Amino acid sequence: MREFWIKDPSYASEGRKKLDWAEGQMKVLMKIRERFQKDKPLKNQRISACLHITKETGVLVKTLLEGGAQVNLCPSNPLSTQDEVAAALVKEGVKVYGFRGLTSKEYYECIGYALLHGPTITMDDGADLVSTLHKLAYDIRGVDVDYVKGVLGGAGEDIIKGVVGGTEETTTGVVRLRALEKKGMLRYPIIAVNDAKSKNLFDNPVGTGQSALDGIMRATNVLFAGKDVVVVGFGQVGSGIAERARGLGARVTVVEVDPIKALKAVMYGFNVSTLSRAAEYGDIFITATGNINVIRGEHFEKMKDGAILANAGHMDVEISKRELEMLAKEKVEVSKLMTLFRMTDGRRIYLLGDGRLVNLVCAEGHPSEVMDLSFSLQALCVEFIVKNKEKLERRVMEVPEEIDKEVARLKLDTMNITIDELTEEQKRYLTEWQVGT
Ligand code: NAD
Ligand code: ADE
Repeated sequence: MREFWIKDPSYASEGRKKLDWAEGQMKVLMKIRERFQKDKPLKNQRISACLHITKETGVLVKTLLEGGAQVNLCPSNPLSTQDEVAAALVKEGVKVYGFRGLTSKEYYECIGYALLHGPTITMDDGADLVSTLHKLAYDIRGVDVDYVKGVLGGAGEDIIKGVVGGTEETTTGVVRLRALEKKGMLRYPIIAVNDAKSKNLFDNPVGTGQSALDGIMRATNVLFAGKDVVVVGFGQVGSGIAERARGLGARVTVVEVDPIKALKAVMYGFNVSTLSRAAEYGDIFITATGNINVIRGEHFEKMKDGAILANAGHMDVEISKRELEMLAKEKVEVSKLMTLFRMTDGRRIYLLGDGRLVNLVCAEGHPSEVMDLSFSLQALCVEFIVKNKEKLERRVMEVPEEIDKEVARLKLDTMNITIDELTEEQKRYLTEWQVGT
């Protein structure tokens, strides 16, 4: 049994400095940590967490430890791990399994190691850990399962019986879990942290809006002003990216399949078009759909020389890498963050971060202040599961409203912002039906 599996334990002091910085920015989570230190609400809990291993995740994991939990941590993407943070966490007693640049086999082995202590709670970002656990329980075969079995041996099938609940961080994970629930196969309750207002109104648009552009800039140093930026998907994430790109002086075109989202983009002043048309003039393409093969061969064929492609969605399937490779006569690694595909007619197309989440692979993910909200929700939801484990139903659940509001309230407090309260008369008025014009 490996105690940990990281790039290099000697990076720990560098990682500690990054954690110190993030702790200074994540004031709500630090308040929760103070309470957890006293009350130990997570005593005897074993948490298997599959999250991007960043300094913000480090602050969350340390908070869970202070609450009395034992945490095994693996990454939710092969390229998003901040190796110095992983080293610092190992030094603090977390079993961390993961480093930047995992192969697919290593990625699933890390999930196996994270499960090895027999979790009582799972925390996931994208549902790879939970789906693997369910495949083991239902004896569904696949190479991913084989890799995990290689680590767990015969222990796999029994692990799920010990899990009392879980949390899910992102839209794609929630979509996958709802599909599992719909088939009647979900084996324990999971709270959709993604669907809380204090998550998806801030983390998805504001966090990704800034960090996705940060990733593109770090990878290319390209000027946004005056560029034609094409944002594919105008949901929570895409709308934030479109706003930020416009703020930098880009002309932004939105591509959608949902008429309401498309109309919203029109009313917000964006140009709305089909991808087939936008492919002809776009300088930078950013996907945020949670869908597959959104930018594909027929679009690459129309693109201008020098087009840049980036993905902000959870999986690396939004830009068809297979078709890009098929159409290219040459592939050159320009840098660790950018690959050039030279088409047979000489045009150059640049793919950032191997088509994986550009904000986490080419930059450092969302700023700590915004992760403060998402990860405070995570910590409070885990506490809620422990307190209510006997009562919870086996379904994908909403974050309790009081937790959602409490996190927003605490955030305002840390920002020294006071808001108004309803008067007794106003409260009454809002419950009346007789009073009219
Ligand atoms: P969402 O459901 O709010 O938005 C997705 C939008 O894409 C929808 O409006 C949908 O109509 C549109 N869409 C779907 N298929 C399309 C297609 N073929 N062409 C054009 N538009 C299409 O989801 P979201 O919360 O915005 O999340 C999007 C993705 O981003 C998910 O994979 C999510 O997990 C991920 N995410 C990433 C980060 C990050 O840090 N990079 C943060 C949050 C969410
Ligand atoms: N998802 C997006 N940004 C993140 C961050 N900074 N840490 C963990 N998960 C993230």
